[in-house]
Amino acid sequence: MPQIASLKIDEKEYPLAVMVGTEGERAIDTRKLRADTGFICYDQGYGNTGSCESAVTFLDGENGILRHRGIPIEQLANFSDFVETAYLVIYGELPNREKRKEFGMKLRQNAAIETQMQRIFEGFPTSAPPMAMLSSIVAALAAHYPQLATNNFERDLVNFDLAAAIAISKIRTFGAMIYRYQKGLPYVFPKQELPFCDNFLHMMFSDPYTEYIAEPEVARALNLVLLLHTDHEQNCSTSTVRTVGSSAANLFTSLSAGICALSGPLHGGANVGVVQMLQAIYDEGDDGTRFIAAAKMGTKANRLMGFGHAVYKNFDPRAKIIGKACEDVLKKLGINDPLLDIARNLEQAALKDDYFLSRKLYPNVDFYSGIIMRALGIPTSLFTVMFAIGRTPGWIANWREVASNPKGRIYRPRQIYMGPVKRDYVPMDQRA
Ligand code: SDX
Repeated sequence: MPQIASLKIDEKEYPLAVMVGTEGERAIDTRKLRADTGFICYDQGYGNTGSCESAVTFLDGENGILRHRGIPIEQLANFSDFVETAYLVIYGELPNREKRKEFGMKLRQNAAIETQMQRIFEGFPTSAPPMAMLSSIVAALAAHYPQLATNNFERDLVNFDLAAAIAISKIRTFGAMIYRYQKGLPYVFPKQELPFCDNFLHMMFSDPYTEYIAEPEVARALNLVLLLHTDHEQNCSTSTVRTVGSSAANLFTSLSAGICALSGPLHGGANVGVVQMLQAIYDEGDDGTRFIAAAKMGTKANRLMGFGHAVYKNFDPRAKIIGKACEDVLKKLGINDPLLDIARNLEQAALKDDYFLSRKLYPNVDFYSGIIMRALGIPTSLFTVMFAIGRTPGWIANWREVASNPKGRIYRPRQIYMGPVKRDYVPMDQRA
């Protein structure tokens, strides 16, 4: 029996229904609060507010638990790969052999970028921020595939499978093309026979004379990095995708908005910030000790990037997995990256320091992801694009929940107005 919460304002009591999720999370249903009491809730940044019911990802920040459609991230990291996890997150179940083959074929068939779309790249300076390029080019998918982007939920859901495959596959190809364009290199076209990650690495590093063939451990490491980024509950960029999608905007337009949100340094841009921080510590001949002291000043400018999380008040389980993979991949590739030593020093120092422990600041997924991507030859400038490639299936799954919800509503939060009270217009000649 759902309990009833009670809100007392002055002498009057208001009963509020309690919602209970499948993992026992409880919420007070305040959908009638304003109508019944004239009050709204105030929760800056929505840290204590549920915006939706979702069945995609369960996250327990206190206990460092992350599951996609009920399957623990540790098991997916050990036994699955990015494409299979993308299918699970989007469609709700692990694919059987036939469905996995069909989904993989759809991704391979939609990897190439038509000539007209290629011309978009020429509109950007080669120094343009890759995420600014990516968000613009992904928005253009709605222009190039208007039949899949009608801004009508019913019609767009009929074509959902193809739109989803195009988004996942082409956003990966766009990533490689942005790299080539910025380096002044000719584009390398996808090869249908290559698996998802091998194809990305081929499009990044092959050239007209020698084809880049990824070592199995390199492709496996990239698979793991993308898999660990697939979805993460209602984070800033996923909530953005849901907000834009709630206006009945099509999938491509909503994904472009998610890419814009992800580009911020407090969110997806943190993996770039981590490597820049580690490089600066290395260049200054510091082993991390001086930096930790500065990070404890608590100013946004000196933050220990890759540490802390809006939800995890324990270890981010992805950080544990990727931290171990970092060691393994660098050892296998025979790479001795001094930044990894510095990262380890910072982690060990922070995990013994009361400033971090008292604020429950632990490594998050971004703390090691940049080091592993460096080892794979991916430039720092492309790290957040890699995060976007990995997060696309999660954004798609969330857009699909919004589009499929017959009782869904447009996202329209309220506010507490703190501006000037009513006053009259002042003609120009009477102004100070
Ligand atoms: C991602 O939401 C998601 O799920 C995101 C993500 C995903 O998969 O989508 O997990 C991906 O975005 C991971 C986070 C990447 N960002 C960073 O690593 C940037 C560094 N971390 C932070 O800026 C910060 O921890 C946030 C933004 C991640 C979380 O911010 P909160 O929860 O709003 O915490 P806060 O800013 O209120 O800080 C609380 C206290 C403050 O100190 P006091 O005012 O209490 O004295 O902790 C301090 C902060 O100064 N603090 C830090 C710190 N993070 C918080 N101090 C030093 N270094 C840090 N990294």
